[in-house]
Amino acid sequence: MGIVLQGGTVVTATDCYQGDVRLEGEKIAAIGSQVIQPDDEVISVNGCYLFPGGIDTHTHFDLNTGTTVTADDFSSGTAAAVLGGTTTILDFATQNKGETLQQAVENWQQKAVGKSYSDFGFHMAITDWHEQIEQEMFHLVHDEGISSFKLYLAYKGTLQVDDGVLFAALKRSPQIGALMAFHCENGDVISQLIKEKLAQGLVSPRYHPISHPAAAEQEAVARVLSLAEIARAPAYIVHVSCASALESIAAARNRGVEVYAESCPQYLLLHESCYETDDFTAAKYVMSPPLRLMSDTQALWTGLSRGAINTLGTDHCSFNYAGQKDLGIHDFSKIPNGIPGVENRLGLMYTYGVLTGKITLNQFVALIATNGAKLFGLFPQKGTIAPGSDADIVVWDPTYRGMIRQETLRQRVDYTPYERFAQTGKARHVFLRGRQVVVSGKLQEEPSGRYLFRKPFYSETVKN
Ligand code: URP
Ligand code: ZN
Repeated sequence: MGIVLQGGTVVTATDCYQGDVRLEGEKIAAIGSQVIQPDDEVISVNGCYLFPGGIDTHTHFDLNTGTTVTADDFSSGTAAAVLGGTTTILDFATQNKGETLQQAVENWQQKAVGKSYSDFGFHMAITDWHEQIEQEMFHLVHDEGISSFKLYLAYKGTLQVDDGVLFAALKRSPQIGALMAFHCENGDVISQLIKEKLAQGLVSPRYHPISHPAAAEQEAVARVLSLAEIARAPAYIVHVSCASALESIAAARNRGVEVYAESCPQYLLLHESCYETDDFTAAKYVMSPPLRLMSDTQALWTGLSRGAINTLGTDHCSFNYAGQKDLGIHDFSKIPNGIPGVENRLGLMYTYGVLTGKITLNQFVALIATNGAKLFGLFPQKGTIAPGSDADIVVWDPTYRGMIRQETLRQRVDYTPYERFAQTGKARHVFLRGRQVVVSGKLQEEPSGRYLFRKPFYSETVKN
């Protein structure tokens, strides 16, 4: 017995057409006009779009920052993801100092297995380079299915690595089928700027963006891409937030560097004005990089429509305003960095991207699912609607009209930065490997997410 989604419009990164989709077991079995078999369950999805399940390329669930732990763990974070139409998340397993990468993988498996409502994979954030790491990287790609690594150029004294490590990791990556990802902000400069502000008694969150200028991001992007050029390695820049960083990415591409860029809804929809208050509420928007100028958001929208930005992740890294963000009430540098977003990514990008004509429906699908699947070794299992692919499908009701309100969200954090944002369109039903995990907007209360062993990174796969 299968399930047939009847009467919808299938949208992929390249096509948009009327077709009934038949799911059998965990896979998409057939698409067409005569796919129903005896005993099939038929679900009418007239007037709805069928999108491939969303892939959020950037989350931080159950992350201990040293002073606190993110409000969302794998249970609440992936429940929120699925309700918003995201069926796969890629979380940053993060190595603690002194730990092997294998230990970090095991820590993250423990956090996620049996608790996740979405499928999940890990990138590995390397924070402590040592002699065995190059060997461990090979092992992670080939034995653990972790084909992407991240290095931080920011967070001096904790996560930041030096240029020698950047270069060594870049050189290693093409040898082992890995893609290196980079958090690009100059941590040394930021640390100095923070010290200067605090010494002047300037402690409120409005000094967070001032001490994290766009030029510190641009410099780090340009540096990484010069090192990638020398190492002849591809690079993935996470959460690009400003026009100048995008310009450096374009310049590197013109020189032949293979570079991919991710941005996030917050950098497209929120601005620096969120910090313009002397009360502590600006802490709700403290993230790194910080929100930028309107002109930066415009450049990012242009980058999306022209294909200069490849993926849209959320960098969901949630901290409660009461009890967590207020760790920095007397010192903005102690405010835990990050905001929630995993539940709202599709709704926001559909409403403010597709319906405003800034991106097409096909670009929307490419950005929220297909390109992430290709870059991170999951395509065509994930990221598209095609026979043989996992039956991860979002039945999208384009007639829904509503407003984002914190009290109606599933995520386990006490605010949303998108409070009162209007939203058009919504995930009505969501299927994860053929199982209906959201029924008429309601989550089925059994977590059935599975670990994704990802393929190594090959440039050819991504380009096709
Ligand atoms: O502010 C942010 N982005 N927090 C999450 C950790 C990171 O920098 O990606
Ligand atoms: Zn992040």
